[in-house]
Amino acid sequence: MESGLEDVVAAETVLSHVDGKRGELIIRGFSLDALAGRRFEEIVGLLFGGFFAALPDDDGIAAGLAAARRRAFAEIGAIDEKLTSMPTTDAVRALVARLADADDLESAFNLLGATAVFTPAVIRRKAGLAPEPPRPDLGHSADVLAMLTGRPPSPVAAAALDTYLVTVADHGLNASTFTARVIASTRAGLTSSVLGAISALKGPLHGGAPGPVLDMLDAIAVPARAEGWIEAALDRRERLMGFGHRIYRVRDPRADALKAAVRRMAAEGAIDPARFALAEAVEAAALAILRRRKPDRPLDVNVEFYTALLLEALGFPREAFTAVFAMGRTAGWIAHAREQAATQRLIRPQSVYVGPAPRAAA
Ligand code: COA
Repeated sequence: MESGLEDVVAAETVLSHVDGKRGELIIRGFSLDALAGRRFEEIVGLLFGGFFAALPDDDGIAAGLAAARRRAFAEIGAIDEKLTSMPTTDAVRALVARLADADDLESAFNLLGATAVFTPAVIRRKAGLAPEPPRPDLGHSADVLAMLTGRPPSPVAAAALDTYLVTVADHGLNASTFTARVIASTRAGLTSSVLGAISALKGPLHGGAPGPVLDMLDAIAVPARAEGWIEAALDRRERLMGFGHRIYRVRDPRADALKAAVRRMAAEGAIDPARFALAEAVEAAALAILRRRKPDRPLDVNVEFYTALLLEALGFPREAFTAVFAMGRTAGWIAHAREQAATQRLIRPQSVYVGPAPRAAA
């Protein structure tokens, strides 16, 4: 057996498809390119369609999310010293655990509102600042940034976070989504599915990688040092963060969507042009060197490389990047949990027993 379940089909889904050979991500019949300019609220509607009775239109979803953000903020007193001493993702998970565990649309909105409100609130508390209340007049992404920085964001910053949240909202049967579906198959509620999924996401092999991309850029510091630094890292048999993928054998399409957003931010002065130039130089040097050193193994840019630059420019601390990832992926987890629950079939695979044969009791 393959202990990573490679090539095992464990679900039928109408939600998303990852084509690793063509470098394509399809979400409910749309390629990522077609969705990357949309607002997060629209992607929530796209993913939730058919999984909740009486799903409102996009404006109704925006209003539902705004109300959920307000309800989450009413719980902000639960952020105590113990939570602020934890990594942000762990603190957000503990706060999400306080939500009621049900299957209805309000519970789904509460989960999206909770990750959106608690992430900036925990970041601010850690920095010794008071949490900022949500604003119903702002879209979901703009409000997250306003709660982070204390002022409404520029349109380019709000659009960049929308691009990020849309880009990571769903991605086939990845480890956290599979976790959410297993939990949903037991008929536990949506909160249980999302809590399990956050726990799977936070591991460094899944959603914990973009912080180290910034550590690499900091270590390289100037474009002229990129080649030498990368060669030395590969000589030490280290892996380059933000490159390679288990499924994509060509460029990760999410990397292109995020690079385009970062380029727009640079053009608007929302990102330090020197930082962008450094990232592009590191990308070019890494691709050339990886091609030369590993001619048989296609290694290209993955989603984490430009995620790191984008979230840094928006003002998120690198230790909180996984919590921001969860903010977007919660939409996909909820849709997958509802899709799995609709099959009414418990997920219960087999294992092969390789322990000792039965023996007489001593
Ligand atoms: N830098 C350098 N070499 C890499 C590499 C990277 N980022 N990713 C893979 N390789 C090399 C491996 O060392 C291995 O070489 P070898 O055969 O000489 O030992 C070969 O490519 C195949 O690696 P394998 O472990 O089979 O790849 P995988 O498909 O299991 O790995 C990742 C996928 C994502 C775990 C891997 O590419 C990686 O560690 N990337 C860096 C971390 C990262 O960016 N994670 C976020 C993913 S979205």
